[in-house]
Amino acid sequence: MNKIKNIGVLTSGGDAPGMNAAIRAVVRAGIYYDLKVTGILRGYEGLIHGDFIEMDRKSVANIIQRGGTILKTARSDAFRTRAGREQAYEQLKSHEVDALIVIGGDGTFTGANLFTSEFDFPVVGLPGTIDNDLQGTDFTIGYDTAINTVVNAVDKIRDTAESHDRLFIVEVMGRDSGLIALRSGIGVGAEAILIPEANMGVDGLITRLESGRKDKSSKIVVVAEGDEVGGAFNVGEVLKQRFPNYDIRISVLGHIQRGGKPSCMDRVLASRFGVAAVEGVLHGQTGVMVGQVNREIVFTPFDHAIKHIDVQEVSPAWLKLVEILSL
Ligand code: F6P
Repeated sequence: MNKIKNIGVLTSGGDAPGMNAAIRAVVRAGIYYDLKVTGILRGYEGLIHGDFIEMDRKSVANIIQRGGTILKTARSDAFRTRAGREQAYEQLKSHEVDALIVIGGDGTFTGANLFTSEFDFPVVGLPGTIDNDLQGTDFTIGYDTAINTVVNAVDKIRDTAESHDRLFIVEVMGRDSGLIALRSGIGVGAEAILIPEANMGVDGLITRLESGRKDKSSKIVVVAEGDEVGGAFNVGEVLKQRFPNYDIRISVLGHIQRGGKPSCMDRVLASRFGVAAVEGVLHGQTGVMVGQVNREIVFTPFDHAIKHIDVQEVSPAWLKLVEILSL
C-alpha cells in the first residue's frame, strides 16, 4: 500500500499566471485519490515557519481564472541554508505531510533538489514561471499569458510609434532568458530583438538598423532585461548617439507581464501538470519536474530542468526568422 496520505503544495519565486489553476488541479487530484492536501503559504518561507492550511474542494473554487497565487509566494533566503531546510523538514514531519509539490522556476527547483537529496523526502515540481527557461518542458505555466500581455501592450505602442515616426525600445522580462523577448518580438513584428542567448550586442543592433529599410515610419526593438547590453535605457543611449535623427522612446513593461488572467493554454497546461504531479507522487516519482514535451507528460530530474537553455538551444532558425521578417 502507498504510504502517501498527505501532500503539501506551495508556490515559490516569481508568480506566474496559471499558478492558481495548478494549485486547484493538485487539490482536486489529491481529493480524487483520497489524499489530504495541505497548502503552504509564501513558498519556502511558510514551509520553514509552519504556515500550513488544509485545502478542501471549496478552497480552490473559482480560482482557475485568477492571476497571482492564492497561496502567495516568496523568494526565501533562509531555505538556501542547511539550517532553514532542516527547519522545513521538521515542520513537514510535525504536520504529517508525506510529500511536497512545489510550483515555481529554477530557484524553486534548486532548493527542492537540495531538500529532496538531503532528507530523502519526496518532492515533485511544476514549472511555473513566465520566463519559459526550464529544460524538460516545451512551455512553462505563465509563459503564454505573459507573451500575450507583451503583444497586447506593444501593439498599442506600435500605434503611437507609427503616428509619430518613432523608434521604440521596449524592455520585457527575462533576467536570464530571452524567450519572452524572442516569441513576443516575432509576434509584434519587431524590427530587432536583443536576447542574452544571441549575443547580438549594440553593434549588431546598429548594423541591423542601418541595413534595414529606411522608409519605415515606426521601428520596434524588443530587449530582454537580461541582455548583455543592460536593458532598454542603455540601448537607448547608444542609439541616440548613433542615430541623432531618430525620435527614440523607451518603454519598460515590467510587472504587468506577471499579472492578469491566465490564457486558456496556461490554464490547461497547469491543470494537466497538477494532476500528473499528484499521480507521479503516488507512483513514487521524486526529485523531478513535470513537463510536457511534444504533447506528452514527462518527468525530468531537477538538476537537468534547471540547466539554462543555452545559445545552441535558441535555434539559429528562430533568429534567422527574426531577420527575414524584419525586412
Ligand atoms: O523569474 C520571473 C521574473 O519575472 C523574471 O523575468 C524577472 O527578472 C524577475 O522575475 C523579477 O523578479 P522580482 O519580481 O523579484 O523583481
